[in-house]
Amino acid sequence: MSLLELDQLEKSYGTVSALSGLSLSVPSGCLYGLLGPNGAGKTTALRILATLLAPDQGRVVVAGVDALQEPRTVRQLMGYVAQEVAIDKILTGRELLALQGDLYHLPRQDRNHRIDQLVDRMSMGDWIDRRCGTYSGGMRRRLDLASGLLHQPQLLVLDEPTVGLDIESRAVIWEVLRDLSDQGTTILLSSHYLEEVEALADRMAIIDAGRVIAEGAPEALKRELGGDRVTLRVREFSDQPEAERVRQLLEVVDGVRRIVINRAQGYSLNLVVDGEHVLAALKQRLASEAFEVFSLSQSRPSLDDVYLQATGRTLMDAELAVAGQRDPKQERRQSMR
Ligand SMILES: Nc1ncnc2c1ncn2[C@@H]1O[C@H](COP(=O)(O)OP(=O)(O)OP(=O)(O)O)[C@@H](O)[C@H]1O
Ligand SMILES: [Mg+2]
Repeated sequence: MSLLELDQLEKSYGTVSALSGLSLSVPSGCLYGLLGPNGAGKTTALRILATLLAPDQGRVVVAGVDALQEPRTVRQLMGYVAQEVAIDKILTGRELLALQGDLYHLPRQDRNHRIDQLVDRMSMGDWIDRRCGTYSGGMRRRLDLASGLLHQPQLLVLDEPTVGLDIESRAVIWEVLRDLSDQGTTILLSSHYLEEVEALADRMAIIDAGRVIAEGAPEALKRELGGDRVTLRVREFSDQPEAERVRQLLEVVDGVRRIVINRAQGYSLNLVVDGEHVLAALKQRLASEAFEVFSLSQSRPSLDDVYLQATGRTLMDAELAVAGQRDPKQERRQSMR
């Protein structure tokens, strides 16, 4: 049974359409990943779900409750960890958690016990009594997560929980999420890290331009694609016409199903191929035209290939495409990756 239903959500900001018919169904107890490039509509969808933003059209149902009609009930069921949280700098982390507990009307003793548990669980003991103004990004993110968990919600919603984080903080957060999921909490998290969704999610949706373009278990999505993937770089590859010439050269090779030119990090080619023999044939063909191979690798389909199949471009290229429209705050975030 699904705990959460987003049904045909539409949302525009002025002339910008952020969601165009986004539908999603998250089974109870599932750890569900929402994967999509910058500007895909992840934050908009999650803010609507958290009852912080009203959609233009569509329905949101959480545990049988209509979120648009009964936002308070839904907020009690849910912990929401936003993408950008402005936290108080003067208070200590512990004081902030206490304040949050009071907002949820937790009795004082339960509240303090729960805070101790979370401090321990998320290894925050060394710094939780320091002022928040002195925290690193990873500390802040752990505090955000603790704050979303204080009232033990049955649904936890996280918007890009590990962007720009150090390895230790990321590992702590992943572990906490896995444990919560094992204990039955339903989790919906957005990410544009393929490996994060791959590592955590039982099911996932890929969203692009405000709608779902693929949905299912990560393994099943990859399996459905079939074929192997080849990534190719050629030494002289410096511009689009060059890349185009190589594409034409290789598309006639037996076993090549599809070729896409990838602009990210200099030009490279992504090929979908059938069979083991294709790699050797590609090398031969390139050598015959005196193209020097810089790198050539063959692998099973990845989630990026699922995205590529659905949209005709890689996730990284999609991010580059919106780079020009990004605001300075997001730009900084991006450069931290
Ligand atoms: N307050 C706003 N005013 C105008 N446009 C907005 C606003 N918030 C979001 N948008 C636009 O709506 C679209 C979806 O944005 P959203 O923040 O939901 O994407 P996202 O998937 O969360 O992206 P990111 O990965 O960068 O966080 C984008 O085109 C964005 O520019
Ligand atoms: Mg976002």
